[in-house]
Amino acid sequence: MNQTESHVPESLDDLIKELHDIFSSDKVNVEEVQTLMESYKSDPAEWLQFAKFDKYRYTRNLVDEGNGKFNLMILCWGEGHGSSIHDHADSHCFLKLLQGQLKETQFNIPDVNQKNREMVKKWEKVFHENQCTYINDSIGLHRVENVSHTETAVSLHLYSPPFDSCHCFDERTGYKNKVKMTFWSRFGEKTPLGITESKENN
Ligand SMILES: [Fe+2]
Repeated sequence: MNQTESHVPESLDDLIKELHDIFSSDKVNVEEVQTLMESYKSDPAEWLQFAKFDKYRYTRNLVDEGNGKFNLMILCWGEGHGSSIHDHADSHCFLKLLQGQLKETQFNIPDVNQKNREMVKKWEKVFHENQCTYINDSIGLHRVENVSHTETAVSLHLYSPPFDSCHCFDERTGYKNKVKMTFWSRFGEKTPLGITESKENN
């Protein structure tokens, strides 16, 4: 029997509980997670403690470690901030908008036999508050940007299984580079200076 509950989370805590439930099983139903994340109605009072901005680039703020099954984090995007083109270490990646808008641009994975080629854009789309998008390495690569020059953006990301490094790609050549990712804050506490300096991307 395949019974999918259509419970709407009443709060961020409630959403996290539901996610723990779903990910306690070994099989992940992508649509179920996406629907659940989309159905949480963003309330800044519930996530403001995690939303820590930096003037220069977007930040990654750890919210929950998902019992080792997933990492849930909040990314804070200042005006004009964006990621590089990156992959997701063979993990599931869910991205839900909590505030503002983000543009996602998807790319094909560069063909290893065709070196030094400009990367091929598949599509771009703007996501709005409460929408949730999904990607994994078999779908392709993406870049995420807050293209607004007047509004910040905040997004909720779930990665399963968790990972702490991925590859960034050069749009003009397709060459990739491994990068390690760090958290700007963990559970609402700013990470001490000195260990946050990296080219985080995802
Ligand atoms: Fe990503």
